[in-house]
Amino acid sequence: MKEVSVSAPGKLILLGEHAVVYDKPCIVTAVDQRLSCEISSLEKRILEINAPDVGVSNYSKSIEELGSGDIEKGAMFIELAVRNFYKAHSFKSGLRISSRSEFKHTFGFGSSSAVTACVMKGLSEMLGIKLTEREIFDLSYKTVLDAQGVGSGFDVASAVYGGTVYFVTSGKKIEPLNIKNFNLVVGYSGEKADTASIVKEVAEKREKNPEKIDRIFSEIEELVDRAKEAIVDSNWEKLGLFMNRDQELLTEVGVSIKKLDEMIDAARKSGAYGAKLSGAGGGDCMIALCPPEKIAGVKTAISDADGEILDVKVNAEGARIEK
Ligand code: PMV
Repeated sequence: MKEVSVSAPGKLILLGEHAVVYDKPCIVTAVDQRLSCEISSLEKRILEINAPDVGVSNYSKSIEELGSGDIEKGAMFIELAVRNFYKAHSFKSGLRISSRSEFKHTFGFGSSSAVTACVMKGLSEMLGIKLTEREIFDLSYKTVLDAQGVGSGFDVASAVYGGTVYFVTSGKKIEPLNIKNFNLVVGYSGEKADTASIVKEVAEKREKNPEKIDRIFSEIEELVDRAKEAIVDSNWEKLGLFMNRDQELLTEVGVSIKKLDEMIDAARKSGAYGAKLSGAGGGDCMIALCPPEKIAGVKTAISDADGEILDVKVNAEGARIEK
């Protein structure tokens, strides 16, 4: 029996969320908390899934029926990933896949894209079908769109490529940035954001007021391009200013919430170069870019504002075979 173990990183978006849905760039960094999958082959032509983190146990379906009939919510990404891989590169065996994550799926670290990237990378290794990172990205992004209908794909790029990536909608550009490590303090608001519905709300706002929203997204585009240079130059002070401006613009779009604002304010007052929400808004996490000597104080300030500190390192490795 063949067996493979594969992992992919979680992610945090540094700048450019929402605008990246509309043909604009964003910058995303992979974090060192990972999601992993064990994949083994079965003689019986079925897919068996165990994903205890999302409440799935002993879910099974015949390979030929993948993607049709009822699909258990927690099994959706794995099932569609296997179906899409199978459609592109058919295989003869059955599969058992179990997933396990070092981070809670409520953090907004991108568990769906990480699990999808794991399945693609793992199957290509196990079945001896060599796929490039770009091919893994394309198959994974298709899967994410099949499963949830919306999404720029930035999270998929982060899971596949890792590091810190400059990304334009649907992978029109995927540019890994060569950077030195930087210090990011991450605070979880305790509230789970529903990305798809926030993306939909923004689309409705844009329909009602296209000039306003498109002006904001154009300014975000400019910010992201300048932030990319600041990152490559390790100019953290400048990057912090761009993050602060991005937060103002996201507030204008209306996606921040009081709890995040309070955590962001606390981080800035304690010496962060800059701070903002990360992701769709409406909950999930905020990030603060800090000089090393301010990290401890910023962490305390965020905790005092009732945020949960998540200890992560940025710029982590992309999807990889563990054994
Ligand atoms: O909530 P997250 O971390 O999945 O981030 C969403 C980012 C958006 O730009 C709002 C959506 C997207 O797919 O790019």
